[in-house]
Amino acid sequence: MSASYPPVTEHLAGVDAKREEGRRKMDWALQHMPILQHLRESFTAEQPLAGQTIAMAMHVEAKTANLVELLADGGAEVAITGCNPLSTHDDVSAALDAHENITSYAVRGVDDEDYYAAIDSVIAHDPTITVDDGMDMIKVVHEEYPELIDSIIGGCEETTTGVHRLRAMDADGELEYPVFAVNDTPMKRLFDNVHGTGESSLATIAMTTNLSFAGKDVVVGGYGYCGKGVAKKASGQNANVIVTEVEPRRALEAHMEGYDVMPMDEAAKQGDVFITTTGNRDVITKEHFEVMKDGALLANAGHFDVEINKEDLSELAVKEFEARDGVRAYELADGRKLNVLAEGRLVNLAAPIALGHPVEVMDQSFGIQAVGVRELVENGDEYAAGVHDVPDDLDREVAEIKLAAEGVEHDTLTEDQREYLESWQHGT
Ligand code: NAI
Repeated sequence: MSASYPPVTEHLAGVDAKREEGRRKMDWALQHMPILQHLRESFTAEQPLAGQTIAMAMHVEAKTANLVELLADGGAEVAITGCNPLSTHDDVSAALDAHENITSYAVRGVDDEDYYAAIDSVIAHDPTITVDDGMDMIKVVHEEYPELIDSIIGGCEETTTGVHRLRAMDADGELEYPVFAVNDTPMKRLFDNVHGTGESSLATIAMTTNLSFAGKDVVVGGYGYCGKGVAKKASGQNANVIVTEVEPRRALEAHMEGYDVMPMDEAAKQGDVFITTTGNRDVITKEHFEVMKDGALLANAGHFDVEINKEDLSELAVKEFEARDGVRAYELADGRKLNVLAEGRLVNLAAPIALGHPVEVMDQSFGIQAVGVRELVENGDEYAAGVHDVPDDLDREVAEIKLAAEGVEHDTLTEDQREYLESWQHGT
């Protein structure tokens, strides 16, 4: 198979300088990634991925790049492209492409056609393993290159939306190889989704707008893992947090945390800042824009740019303009201006100054990715087609590496305690 979309270096001017800058970003991140450093030592020595070809569609920035190099240093050939048109750092993409076992096709700001052409080019490497963030690669493999499926051992999926899509595909009987739901492990979800999304979304919104959260009404759409993080960090910055939810237990949880819970129809009138984290579409639509305050900020931290309905907003607007880098103002007929950040794409990765999650949490998420890929190579034939949890002992392995790196010691169960916990005979 051949594909025509070329690697990143053919799209960029001043490639050498870009590579150097990308490498600098990667080096900085790696200093704060003890899990990847630890795994890099063992992967380089033991070459567990020798002979494998890994196709990846991820946010191509410095932390991801260190995962990609770890996989290549572990013996794999890796081809990578972005999983969002705006989250690629071209300099990092160029630095990655300089590695002899890595080809990077990721370029920032591609249109839909080039986004999928780059995925085709990655798949043209004939992968034995896929690593996705959002499931776009697996979808293309199944729909357009089914002849490759027999030689694919399995895949790993990074995010909630990707795992939801995979489960839907599996329920339809369409998923034809095993995929690890990396997102669902404690070491990923409890840190990356909660703290990572919370911290990086708020930091990016603050830096993009130069505005404060203190004293503002911040509406958080969805109180799942990401929403909890966003709500907690916004509250920590002295905002009044309003939560909208469709799931009654999560709405109750938010209420018991002390947040105001109300339908979006009401929240729309009160909010100064809106941050959607639902993974669902049309969370903020025409009827909400119609009642919003002048100057409201609208940002999305969910995977796809469908949570804030931009088509509705464009229809209502009499004028649109770039108010700041990464802020598009929509002026309505009555003079109110509503401001959408990062085109409604996930704000913490797609805004012009966005850096994504803090390095430490991505060290954990990508540690799970690395041991997940290793597990597929070592024991892939034990997993049937479908979505699988990452084995718990691998999640623990990564937690132990992190604790050791932090110098944190913890207790272990005695034999008596283990026996007690595993028995049903003990009572009062
Ligand atoms: P989750 O499933 O834990 O939470 C989503 C919540 O939204 C659920 O409680 C659900 O009931 C609620 N919800 C669904 N439709 C709604 C609606 N119309 N109105 C109000 N609430 C609604 O998922 P999680 O892990 O929090 O992920 C959310 C999204 O964020 C996904 O798209 C995921 O892929 C993405 N994500 C983004 C990251 C980032 O870096 N920005 C990092 C990790 C995940």
